[in-house]
Amino acid sequence: MLIIELKFVRSYDDLLEIPLQPLYDNLREQRAIELAFMDKISDEEADIKTAIVMVVGAGRGPLVRSAFNASANVNRKIKMYVIEKNPNAIVTLTALQEELWKNKDMTIISTDMRYFEPSEKVDILVSELLGSFGDNELSPECLDGAQKHLKEDGISIPCQSTSYINPVMAPKLCSIIREVRGHMRRGKPNTYEKQAESPYVVYLKNVYHITKPQPVFTFVHPNNDEVIDNSRFIKMEFDVAHDCVLTGFAGYFETILYKDIKLSIHPEEHTRGLISWFSLYFPLTEPQQLRAGDRIKLNFWRCISNRKVWYEWSTTSPTVTHVHNLKGWAFPIYK
Ligand SMILES: C[S@@+](CC[C@H](N)C(=O)[O-])C[C@H]1O[C@@H](n2cnc3c(N)ncnc32)[C@H](O)[C@@H]1O
Repeated sequence: MLIIELKFVRSYDDLLEIPLQPLYDNLREQRAIELAFMDKISDEEADIKTAIVMVVGAGRGPLVRSAFNASANVNRKIKMYVIEKNPNAIVTLTALQEELWKNKDMTIISTDMRYFEPSEKVDILVSELLGSFGDNELSPECLDGAQKHLKEDGISIPCQSTSYINPVMAPKLCSIIREVRGHMRRGKPNTYEKQAESPYVVYLKNVYHITKPQPVFTFVHPNNDEVIDNSRFIKMEFDVAHDCVLTGFAGYFETILYKDIKLSIHPEEHTRGLISWFSLYFPLTEPQQLRAGDRIKLNFWRCISNRKVWYEWSTTSPTVTHVHNLKGWAFPIYK
């Protein structure tokens, strides 16, 4: 979760939060891996063939555990590669290997998945790199870099992700963002403009959804485009049914893990029991008074340079705004 300022951390004081359910959440990934195993190796081949699985961005190992469970559940042999760039997570993974997976055919590699050159290609590439808006933690960039590890007929889990957005009235968030004037952020003086042109991860509670979410950007894995370009632009329109105030836009994602197994935080399609992700909120620097019958016109960009990825957004109706987060000045995501 994104925590920007001590002041924001303090707002968690004495707040009752629902604990995460990593094992429950990972059951869907486990089921997806089971299906992939069965598609790669038939029942007849189960004794003679081994599926090569690579978990990229393994963190503390929940997907490694899911893959081993899946292989046992469907009785398929597994050879495992585990890739992780965070040295602290590597310590945990190595300890888990010692304790739980000593007898498994498993290799841990401490590296960035984009630059690693594998000695052999794999049948199933498993990852969990999605952010609240799907691609906002750079899963497309990471998985495009990692797909060279996958055999031509290999399976990526997840295989697709789509972001969604809808206009919202969130007066509480509006006033929290106004409050931070004068505070420091990442060692630099903060300004209202910087604060109000940055996206936030937030559990949306006091919010009025002005209209239903619509799809924004889709990314498919592996990406077989001749030239891979993950920059995007979309013009969107939302009809307003009631008088209200537009304070910003809420973002969500839906992902297809494999076949019909999905994860979603779209408010109307939300996967039951899934609490690992909150929404992403894109504020407007100035709230806009809306009347029933108005049409909100939103321009939304995913931009890329050598060093960073960022979103830009503006409205052209009913109010024309400047482009928020132009060139990623308020909130870039470093590659
Ligand atoms: C969202 S976390 C998921 C971790 C895991 N599911 C867990 O619960 O611990 C993503 C993981 O991917 C790793 N990661 C992100 N980008 C990577 C890259 N380019 N190469 C290797 N690992 C990466 C991060 O260090 C992090 O551990």
